Amino acid sequence: MAAMAKTPPAEKPEYLGLLNAISLAESQAGVYLRAWANVTEDCELAETLRFVAARESNHGETFCRRIAELGFELKPKNDPKAEEYLLKLANPKVSDCEKIGPERAEGGPDVFADIDKAIAAGKYDPMTENMLRWYITEERDSGKRLKKQYDRIRDGMKAAMAQPAAANGNGKMAAAGPSADAQAIMACMTEGFARLEKTLAKLIHNLK
Ligand SMILES: [Fe+2]
Repeated sequence: MAAMAKTPPAEKPEYLGLLNAISLAESQAGVYLRAWANVTEDCELAETLRFVAARESNHGETFCRRIAELGFELKPKNDPKAEEYLLKLANPKVSDCEKIGPERAEGGPDVFADIDKAIAAGKYDPMTENMLRWYITEERDSGKRLKKQYDRIRDGMKAAMAQPAAANGNGKMAAAGPSADAQAIMACMTEGFARLEKTLAKLIHNLK
């Protein structure tokens, strides 16, 4: 078998930075979601987080591979907030609701719209274009799966917060009568008085 000819230096595509950013962000997202999945007590959420984490890690590796195929190397970048965020997600004492948080609010502008436009304009080489189409399709599907879980957890939290208000009474109920706690205290006192009255009656009877 003949020795392979040395590959000439590759021409740097202008979208190399995009591929690098996708690879780094997806690999990191895989780590984040898996750390969260490992500590949540919500089995349905954990299942979705693991499902999406597997895709994210795979996207990270695939785009790293594509960068190498184009003749370049993935450039790591230090994210100063990554460790703090990972610690938050891996902390079982931080609620799922807090982890979902406003920074994960859905319904914003479509982050992939620019890539879609660039694909339509023929900006990428065919292999990269094919990979980006696959990637975007999976990302949009993952987004829907996560949103479904986030909505379910937020709704559950809203319902839980509404419950104590109904049990203890709102302003109108308080005006109509004593609170549940006050009623319980009064019931204990009444029972106490009834017992005391009986004891007194017995004593008086015995004295007679
Ligand atoms: Fe992603």
